[in-house]
Amino acid sequence: MKILILYHSGVGNTKLVAEVLNNKLRELFETKIIAVEKLSNEFVVDNYDGYVIGFPTYHAHPSGSIIKFIDNADSLSKKKPAYIYTTCGWYSGNALRIFAKKCIRKNIIPTSNRSFRCTATDGVLLFPFINSLFTFEKNLVQKIEREAERIKKEFIRESYRPNLPRFKLYSILNFPNKKIGQLITLKIFLHKENCSRCGKCIKNCNMNAMKPNNANFPLFDKDNCEKCYRCIHHCPNKALSLFKRKVPEKQLSEGFFDLSRR
Ligand SMILES: Cc1cc2nc3c(=O)[nH]c(=O)nc-3n(C[C@H](O)[C@H](O)[C@H](O)COP(=O)(O)O)c2cc1C
Repeated sequence: MKILILYHSGVGNTKLVAEVLNNKLRELFETKIIAVEKLSNEFVVDNYDGYVIGFPTYHAHPSGSIIKFIDNADSLSKKKPAYIYTTCGWYSGNALRIFAKKCIRKNIIPTSNRSFRCTATDGVLLFPFINSLFTFEKNLVQKIEREAERIKKEFIRESYRPNLPRFKLYSILNFPNKKIGQLITLKIFLHKENCSRCGKCIKNCNMNAMKPNNANFPLFDKDNCEKCYRCIHHCPNKALSLFKRKVPEKQLSEGFFDLSRR
């Protein structure tokens, strides 16, 4: 079987989960792992027999990039199984259910799903003094590997059943969070004195929300921003911040997502 592992990851959590799943699944399947922003027009999603699709939860909703992917995707030629997952900092509400419904419309049939609690990529910037926001759920890697074993069993079955995540009633309490997410995009401030004009933030922004000015300093375009905060976390000089007067105290830089440390 050929399996496509497709993910959107703002900062690195969702990519980390995709990589652990890939390491296990390739023991049995031929796998291809790819980030949604790297999909070219020539890439044929329908060429696979099963799918693993991951995305972060932003304000109790699937991230904009993954929604854009699924909304624009062509329907598969026939129904094929998928494992869908989200990563979240605290709780994902109905993000998986919202995404699963969209998948079904495209003949991608979610057979199982899981939410993984990871570092809160927004929370660590806003509340760096709360240590729990920097932690992953206990035994994360082992739990992901167990999920991979489940996927192996489910995908090789002759037939499979759709498994729509149940509507979580308590997510109604999260409505203000969702509304805030839709209405407000926080500004990203440049601290010029720290900026080395390396262009990493510009290159890394999937949404073209960072553009160079005449002097090669990044200019922030709020309208295009997906609010993933990759630019802030991966700036080598702490030159970007959600605050006008201070640079981030702590970041989740690349080394933070080193698998051998989990
Ligand atoms: C703008 C924004 C909104 C978020 N909203 C939620 C949320 O509603 N619930 C939650 O549990 N985590 C929330 N988070 C945390 C992310 O879901 C979590 O850190 C995720 O693992 C990030 O994945 P990534 O590193 O692949 O981008 C939010 C993060 C950001 C940046």
